[in-house]
Amino acid sequence: MQKYVVANWKMNGSRNLFDQYLNNFNEADNIIVCPPFIYLNTSAKIHLGAQNIFHEPKGAFTGELSTQMLNDVGVKYCLVGHSERRQHFAETNNMVRLKAQACLDASITPIICIGETLAEHEANLTNSVLQKQLDECLPSNGAFWLAYEPIWAIGTGKTPTIDEIHSVHLMVREKLPQTKLLYGGSVDPTNAKSIFAVTNVDGVLVGGASLDIQKIKVIYDAARANA
Ligand code: PGA
Repeated sequence: MQKYVVANWKMNGSRNLFDQYLNNFNEADNIIVCPPFIYLNTSAKIHLGAQNIFHEPKGAFTGELSTQMLNDVGVKYCLVGHSERRQHFAETNNMVRLKAQACLDASITPIICIGETLAEHEANLTNSVLQKQLDECLPSNGAFWLAYEPIWAIGTGKTPTIDEIHSVHLMVREKLPQTKLLYGGSVDPTNAKSIFAVTNVDGVLVGGASLDIQKIKVIYDAARANA
């Protein structure tokens, strides 16, 4: 089965970059673009994801958006619990679970992010940290996706070894046999092919490299080659 590419622009990109995606990809492609909210376009013929959502359905929550609003503009996916949300906006495991559940209730696929810090990685605590996040972040059931994003690999150019990615994805797969499992953290045109080849990696979540249309095309071609 063809693997997935999820492009997380974070607070980057432009209308022009969105147009470049529209010119290069369409709804037949297993690529989901997550631009800043303002570029989400109801008529876009490409799979769209949001980078965040609030769990309440409506109300006095200035600056927030609801899952119903995502439905209104045809957004079918939403990142939930990205480490930058946890770090800069104090999102807790409990909030992540509420957001993921709100997405599922609205037929939006949440892509739930988990990952360990460098200190935890170096102290060999990766599995226990991930286990706690899995216990506390996941809705009791539903077709969520999961992204393993070691925090120390995000935006740093560093990645875990292929064996480490393999071992984490195997551990998660044993708990979640049906869930799509993504790897994220410094995926780029040079390493995408070997990451896609890892058993139980169903796709990648790409930050920095997704801001360059040529780079994301190379990564997408690697996904297609691995189908
Ligand atoms: P990166 O970001 O590809 O720039 O490391 C990945 C992410 O944060 O999703």
